[in-house]
Amino acid sequence: MPLVIAMDGPSGSGKSSASKGVARTLGLRYLDTGAMYRAMTWWMLENGVPVEDGAAVAARAQDPVIESGTDPAAPTITVDGTDVSGPIRTRAVTNAVSAVSSVPAVRARLVELQREIIGAGGIVVEGRDIGTAVAPEAPVKVFLTASAEVRAARRAKDLAADPGASVTVTRAEQERRDRLDSTRTASPLAKAAGAHEIDSTGLSLDEVIEAVVRLAKEHE
Ligand code: DC
Repeated sequence: MPLVIAMDGPSGSGKSSASKGVARTLGLRYLDTGAMYRAMTWWMLENGVPVEDGAAVAARAQDPVIESGTDPAAPTITVDGTDVSGPIRTRAVTNAVSAVSSVPAVRARLVELQREIIGAGGIVVEGRDIGTAVAPEAPVKVFLTASAEVRAARRAKDLAADPGASVTVTRAEQERRDRLDSTRTASPLAKAAGAHEIDSTGLSLDEVIEAVVRLAKEHE
């Protein structure tokens, strides 16, 4: 089995930075599946689809053309050829993404795209259901966690340009999103069988990267 590193965990656990760092260190590709759910959500909002209406979302799930670039030094995401890497990080998208990603037709479409990209392997894939549903056969599975305080502080830093994004607001929005992501019926966020849990609360980014690289080397 060629190398696939599945990196799952809640928002703010440090998944993105760690996953990119691991991919760069090991010369692997990188896929941010959260960006694909965000791109789908951005498209639904742009096209006036009521995102809380699962049937309406499902009816349009095949329509946007979503493409992900897998260079960890410069990951890209486009919808119908337009670069949406900025717009998918707004609070409007962040607060709608759990509803859109709970729709089975959305998940089926994006999981199919993700498996095509994973292809023959050589990739670090970050998300919520990589070890449980997208690539359960991945030889290295990580479940990354961090305390609620640290996760909210990291997210607020990401959103520093947004004046509404205080730590308190961010934490409340994040708790809501984590609750929805963990309790939905379709592939909820969960630690996969055989996943190594890493708590990044007291670790630097480099320490998290080192821990994952060590796990990957043990599997060589
Ligand atoms: O990793 P992120 O915060 O950018 O992900 C955005 C949302 O996408 C997250 O709230 C849940 C959803 N998601 C998912 O359902 N499955 C994945 N594999 C990745 C993300």
